[in-house]
Amino acid sequence: MKVNQMSVTSRGPQETFALGERLGEILRPGDVVLLTGGLGAGKTTFAKGIAKGLGVEDEVTSPTFTRMAEYEGRIPLVHMDLYRLWEEAPSEEAALRALADLGWEDALESDAAVLMEWPGKAADAAGDALEVEFTAVPLPRVDERELHCRARGPRSQARLDEWVKRWLF
Ligand SMILES: Nc1ncnc2c1ncn2[C@@H]1O[C@H](COP(=O)(O)OP(=O)(O)OP(=O)(O)O)[C@@H](O)[C@H]1O
Ligand SMILES: [Mg+2]
Repeated sequence: MKVNQMSVTSRGPQETFALGERLGEILRPGDVVLLTGGLGAGKTTFAKGIAKGLGVEDEVTSPTFTRMAEYEGRIPLVHMDLYRLWEEAPSEEAALRALADLGWEDALESDAAVLMEWPGKAADAAGDALEVEFTAVPLPRVDERELHCRARGPRSQARLDEWVKRWLF
């Protein structure tokens, strides 16, 4: 049996953080996690949980202006937020050039795990990544978020399997 998509409802920021923490505990060098969903959907909350699970001690903030930040943990963590890159570049080509200049693809070859908020067109280059899409649940359930998780290949599939086991036990 193989389940390559899985949804879970988080009932508040602490649960989203805890789900991230469980994933951070099992991430391996070269893993890529794509975080999609609207503004305030919970991507950075989840990223902070991942960092905790990876043993990062520094405070993790959204790299809104720098677009990319690296932290030391059990393995290095590269955290990207490309919202402004897509918003501000004069053209898609310029955005893709600016993205290449960040050198993020080097991280894929290194011993780091890579988290990407607002991956946009970079999603294709990310290869066998785990996607987590965040959606808010209609009012009045303001603190609920649906996390739709999808594995894009065997590597992310293995991580999804292991992660989901940790939701339950
Ligand atoms: N179940 C939930 N999971 C995560 N965050 C929640 C939840 N319920 C409410 N929130 C609130 O929603 C906000 C999520 O903010 P966060 O920065 O994590 O979103 P984001 O997706 O990274 O947004 P942006 O695209 O602007 O970077 C926080 O204020 C958090 O307290
Ligand atoms: Mg964010």
